[in-house]
Amino acid sequence: MDKYTQKTKEWLDKRFAEGVKEGAYFAHQPIYGYKRGRTEGRDLIRYLRNLSILTKLSYLKFDSFMDIGGAEGYMPNLVKTAFKVDSYTCDLSFEANLRAKEIFNLDSVSIDISNLPFKDEAFDVVLCSEVLEHVANPVQAISELRRITKKALLITTEAVCYDSLERKLRMMLVDLSEDHCDRNWFIAEDFIFMLGDNIDCESTIYDPGIADKGASLDEVKIILSGYAERGILTRGGVGITVLLSKILKDERLKGTIPNLVDIILNTAANTDYKKNNDSDLHPISARLVELLRCPACQSVVDLDKNTLRCSSCGNEYAVKDNVPIMYTHDKDANFLTKKWNTRFLSEFGHDYKHFLKLKKVFEHTTSKPNFLIRIIVCRALKIEKFICNSINVMCQRSLLASVAYFLRVLKKRTLREIYRVINRVRKPVLSDFKIGDTVEFAKDYQALDNQKVFVRQGTFGKIAAISDDKITIRVEGVECPVDLWANTKRGYKPTLMHIKQVKIS
Ligand SMILES: C[S@@+](CC[C@H](N)C(=O)[O-])C[C@H]1O[C@@H](n2cnc3c(N)ncnc32)[C@H](O)[C@@H]1O
Ligand SMILES: [Zn+2]
Repeated sequence: MDKYTQKTKEWLDKRFAEGVKEGAYFAHQPIYGYKRGRTEGRDLIRYLRNLSILTKLSYLKFDSFMDIGGAEGYMPNLVKTAFKVDSYTCDLSFEANLRAKEIFNLDSVSIDISNLPFKDEAFDVVLCSEVLEHVANPVQAISELRRITKKALLITTEAVCYDSLERKLRMMLVDLSEDHCDRNWFIAEDFIFMLGDNIDCESTIYDPGIADKGASLDEVKIILSGYAERGILTRGGVGITVLLSKILKDERLKGTIPNLVDIILNTAANTDYKKNNDSDLHPISARLVELLRCPACQSVVDLDKNTLRCSSCGNEYAVKDNVPIMYTHDKDANFLTKKWNTRFLSEFGHDYKHFLKLKKVFEHTTSKPNFLIRIIVCRALKIEKFICNSINVMCQRSLLASVAYFLRVLKKRTLREIYRVINRVRKPVLSDFKIGDTVEFAKDYQALDNQKVFVRQGTFGKIAAISDDKITIRVEGVECPVDLWANTKRGYKPTLMHIKQVKIS
């Protein structure tokens, strides 16, 4: 494993263990349901992306599914629930794989996407969602994804540019000293070059106005139910979805398509997260062992107690808490370089010049961008994005919606103040709140005194107690004492919002 991936792995393992000791696991994905529990937020965007992925899968007949970089296993669990297929997850982070096992009882494997430990065409459907932008060698990763796919490969990333100029600018801003940063930016032509020109490329979400909408649960249901596929890649859309179909036709019967919106809204994990005893962990399934191969030489591996042994090169891979740990070994470096050179030549020999150019795009020479370049490029990109988004909202919705979007982005704070004066909305005070009310966190919240607790902006909670200067909010069993006002760079901001239309149990 290269140094960058090793460092990223260490950071990810800490990240995916956050809250585990305290029994209030801080999730990356919305595994507890809409704005419930402790999660990273952006739930609406994640729901829309997941709905778009599930809709694509709903047309296919398939028996097995693998999520590469699947984090806590949220998506494989949804796929298992919706389509009743064998569903697996794997991730660079061993801790993420453990969570997937503990929370959703999924088979998981610790891997690096650059050398996957699975046989050719191991899974009918392979998903790789929001991962490629983080990896050290995306060209190698895409080649591996295609190799292990039997029927359909789905890739999504928000790190998409609409031309190579925008990509050049974005790559100039990459700061490799940040942990798990967006280090790669893509254009549609990269995927066409690597996967063939019969792939479908489209925007994952078409209406950027939705991206920053603070919707209630009822509104979310309406938004998801109104989701319509468009099949185009629009400037100003959110992200790209790439679909490679390796087979021409293998469709699911119309009557068997499940209600995906209900599945997304109703399939949630238990928020009272408790770490299982090792003995409770779902054992590694025989079906998965059959699909495993040595990540270096691709030969069959044999399971002997807690060790997987390669039948050809003799490499050994440990199995810990029923999770196979299948990274390549440092001693394999020379062998792997040779293997990849041969493979790249056979895959891209027809246009090796273009291939080398593409590989170079993702090679970083400096780790931190120059301060001045940063300011100029950031400004240029912001203006470009703003214009594209406004045009896109106008095309997708109406001129009025576009003006509203324009104003909202233009001066959020000034507009809020004007709104406040016109509507005579006064600032909240303690007496506005009573015990039992549901409130939404208007800001990220962090308490470091008695336990390490972090709650994302937008999470719902219930008021448990009110004292002279603080309100205590209970978020899924964790008590968070909150000041009503927070001192921010832009002056004081309220920390809580009243929510009436959402019931939480
Ligand atoms: C932004 S998260 C996306 C998680 C999930 N696929 C989703 O869409 O919600 C990126 C994931 O990629 C994983 N990851 C990062 N580098 C990786 C690598 N080299 N190989 C495999 N997984 C990796 C991280 O651990 C993390 O779970
Ligand atoms: Zn081997």
